[in-house]
Amino acid sequence: MHQKIVLITGASSGIGAATAKKLVSNGHKVALTARSEGKLNKLMSQFGREACRIYPADATDPSALEAVIKQAADEFGKLDCVFANAGKGVSTPGTENGDIKEWQSMLNININALLYTAKFSLPYLKKTKGQFILTSSAAGRATLKGSIYGASKWFAYGFGQNLAEEMKEWGGRCTTICPGMVNTPFFDEPKEDKLQPEDVADAVAFAIEAEHRNSVREIYLMPTN
Ligand SMILES: NC(=O)c1ccc[n+]([C@@H]2O[C@H](COP(=O)([O-])OP(=O)(O)OC[C@H]3O[C@@H](n4cnc5c(N)ncnc54)[C@H](OP(=O)(O)O)[C@@H]3O)[C@@H](O)[C@H]2O)c1
Repeated sequence: MHQKIVLITGASSGIGAATAKKLVSNGHKVALTARSEGKLNKLMSQFGREACRIYPADATDPSALEAVIKQAADEFGKLDCVFANAGKGVSTPGTENGDIKEWQSMLNININALLYTAKFSLPYLKKTKGQFILTSSAAGRATLKGSIYGASKWFAYGFGQNLAEEMKEWGGRCTTICPGMVNTPFFDEPKEDKLQPEDVADAVAFAIEAEHRNSVREIYLMPTN
């Protein structure tokens, strides 16, 4: 199996951190970014500096994100895969009762930062015929009453399909991950009977480790119950 260099956004907790752990245990190297420097530091001490480097930044700041991607590519020598996973929800549901400030902040990370991550990483992925992976959601595949979060994940889903066609032109691959409810700090209460972040990490590792001829376009995971 080929060792890959994988940059992960939203790597400080939940799905991103579990994916980093899975990839390192499978022999890959990871570049981790998120805002929480303390959490990233803990992950780096767990995985070791040989396998893991950290780049604290706010992904909604395009110049900070561009610098993170450049620095990671320079330090590891290349990028084989970028996993755009950073995102958040809102605490006020619905459209009529929604909070505009919350929407702006959520759309900035769920949509704008996703686009920045793709734009800034494509030149590096082109060099390796690499792979872009993004976290949409089951909420981006279903109708949810008044949900702006769900609509942001529909955007992510559609963007992933379109990006796959653009990347195909030079032998690149794009994978959209659509999980149902996952037990992560995304929720205030534990969701122990739902998907665990390790289940999503397994899906990401499957997409990354698939043969280059096999462009895994999407993976849709739901809790069994
Ligand atoms: N949990 C679920 O049920 C579920 C289901 C489907 C899809 N998803 C999606 O999965 C992704 C990961 O979520 P999770 O469930 O693992 O929740 P989480 O544990 O809350 O992780 C969210 C990650 O995004 C990062 N992040 C948020 N805002 C950021 C910003 N402005 N700049 C940089 N990083 C930022 C957070 O890091 P910092 O706070 O350290 O910056 C954190 O690492 C999200 O896109 C979410 O929408 C979740």
